Formats: sequence, C-alpha cells, structure tokens
Amino acid sequence: MIKYADRITSLPPYLFAEVDREKHQKIKEGVDIIDLGVGDPDMPTPDYVIDSLCKAAHDPETHQYPSYSGSTVFRDAAVEWMKKRFGIKLDAEKEIITLIGSKEGIAHIPSAFVNVGDYTLCPNPAYPVYSIGTILADGTPYDMPLLAENGFKPDLAKIPSDVAKKAKMLFINYPNNPTAATADKKFFKEVIDFGKDHGTVIVHDNAYSEVTYDGYNAPSILEVPGAMDCCIEFHSLSKTSNMTGWRIGFATGNAEIVTGLGKVKMNVDSGAFLAVQLAAIDALRHSDTFKQKMSKIYRERRDALLVGLYAMGIEMEKPKATFYVWAPVPGKHASIEYAKFLLEKAGIVATPGVGFGKYGEGYVRFSLTRPVERIRQAVERMKDL
Ligand SMILES: Cc1ncc(COP(=O)(O)O)c(C=O)c1O
Repeated sequence: MIKYADRITSLPPYLFAEVDREKHQKIKEGVDIIDLGVGDPDMPTPDYVIDSLCKAAHDPETHQYPSYSGSTVFRDAAVEWMKKRFGIKLDAEKEIITLIGSKEGIAHIPSAFVNVGDYTLCPNPAYPVYSIGTILADGTPYDMPLLAENGFKPDLAKIPSDVAKKAKMLFINYPNNPTAATADKKFFKEVIDFGKDHGTVIVHDNAYSEVTYDGYNAPSILEVPGAMDCCIEFHSLSKTSNMTGWRIGFATGNAEIVTGLGKVKMNVDSGAFLAVQLAAIDALRHSDTFKQKMSKIYRERRDALLVGLYAMGIEMEKPKATFYVWAPVPGKHASIEYAKFLLEKAGIVATPGVGFGKYGEGYVRFSLTRPVERIRQAVERMKDL
C-alpha cells in the first residue's frame, strides 16, 4: 500500500479541477471555448532569442553541466539590466543567482530559512507557490488577506505579534497575480521595516515587472534604502519575453539570502541549460522595446474586456499592470458558481478567485492571453447574459 508523506497530503486541493473538467467536456461537445483562464502568453518568444538559442545549442560547450549559480555572462547581463531598468548596482558574483524559472526558486527558498513550526507570511489570494513551498519545507503559511479596501496590499499591523516573531519569511508580489494591484516604494519601505524589526526575510516576486501599461513603470523593492539588508527579489523572463516554456529567471538581493537559496539549489538541481541562459541575455538586452510592443497589445485587450465587464454592470478600476483582470462577481454568487455560469452560458473560461485562496472569493480572474478579436467575441457573449 503506497502512502504519501503528510506534507503531500496536507497540500491544498486543486480547486480548478471542476472548472477544468467542464471545460474539457464542452470542448468535446464541440463548443467554441474562449479560454481566458491561463496565465501563459499566447504570443511567441521573439525571433532574436530563438536565433540566439539555436546558435548556442550548436556549440558543444553548452552541452555539459552548467554552473550551479548561473553562467557569469548571464549574471552580468542581469546586473546590467537591473542597473538600466531600476538604477540598482549589484554584485554579479554574490547578489545574483540564475533560476530554472522563478517558480523553482520561490518553491525552494523556504527550505533555506524555515524550520519546523516557523511561519511564513503569505498573501491571500496569491500565486500558490509561496504557501506550498512553505508546506514542503515543513513550515506553516500564515495568511495575509489582500482586500480591496487596502488596495490589495497586506495590512502588516494586523499580523499578531506571536506570529510576527516566528515569521521567517514574508512574500509579496507587485504587480500582483491575481489582483493586478501595484505597489509603490512607500509600501515597500513598510515591508522592509517589518523585515528588519522581526528578522524576517522579505521575498518580492517581481515576475510581472515588465507587463505594465499607460506609462506605469513597476519599481523594484531593491530601489528602496535598506532593502539589501533583508530582501530578495525574483525576476522571470517568462512573462517579460514570452518565454514560459524556456524556464529561465533569476533572484537577486541580499548576498546571504542569495547564498542560502544557492545552497538548497546546489543540492537539488544542476543549473539552467547554458544555451537558454545565453539566449536569455538577448531577451534582457531587448526587453525595453519588447515591453513597449507587448504593453500596447495587452492594453488593447484589457480595454476590450473592460467594455464588456462595464456593460454587465461590473464596476472596477482599470488595471495598469499584469495581463489579468480581477473582476468582482456580480450579485452574491460564489466565484466557482460564477465561473461555471460563464462557461455554461457563454463558453468563456475564467478562473474562480477562491482558487487563489479564501480571500479571493467574490472575484474571478480573466487573463488577457487571447487575441483581441477573441476577447471582443467574449464580450459580445457576456453582453447577452
Ligand atoms: C506571481 C507569479 N510568480 C511567479 C510565477 C512563475 O513564473 P516562472 O516560473 O515561469 O518564472 C508566476 C507564473 O504564473 C506568477 O504568476
């Protein structure tokens, strides 16, 4: 009889399973589904990155085990990008580590800092890996509700002092998935002060830093004085350069925190394929022009979707970052019920907010990862509901 470990059986259930099942059923029945559920860019990786990969893959020197902490040239390019983009000077040797996608680093970092019984402070609703990485490290995630009245930012004053004392890590993510909220440096300063007061490692997930519109530029937490004392920031090329399948990102910040993550990784993986790291250098070097191109596309899609939501009487502000729209569920319906209703009546897939945590109840998340014509079709169908 096979028995799973408690840490596996205690993982939260996959709440999208029911909606997924119905989606596949509808597809089987021949229904034209407009899938606004997935957080995966629909547009290809730019050609210059693909060309660079092909060239690098033909060089046998890329075929061996890569360096654990990442190739020097990739880390130098990441330092150069952080300097150009945020004005931050970093040490490529000590303050940057290459990741096999940022999810890998986020999932591994609790193992470096959390002992049994320690808390990590996790936003809710959130990208699930903060709490799941904690559970896999035998720690206890403590929910920080992200509420509309606080601009979807955690209220740090509400964290009980006994929890704060045992909080080894605090996760934040702005621009935010799933709420699309943004944060300013004043908020980051509050988080840094909390980290310094409580000896808590601050993890900022900046995966959507380059998915912004209307002239908004997302900051790095590392721009704020004091951040290098207690923070690490995760960056990903997945959303920035349409490279989700390539598995490449990096973490940067306080040297001891980066070293801690490196100690875990050194024992569980053997680094990212060197040819991918070399191609990612080209992605970073062109990220500014690519960002402008993509932001125009997502902005058009966002505006098209909001026309539909407003027509349905859904009131919400225009998000200025991420490719998500976090829409309040009309009436008093549960988010799963509403997602099923959209699927059943209009063939539209949206993600129920509760799947991101209990404080996501009352919302559904629409992804702008479909062409604008499809989003317009979705809007037409929603208008008829
Ligand atoms: C908030 C957030 N962080 C991190 C990731 C992981 O990105 P990747 O592992 O592709 O770098 C995602 C992916 O959806 C995300 O939404």
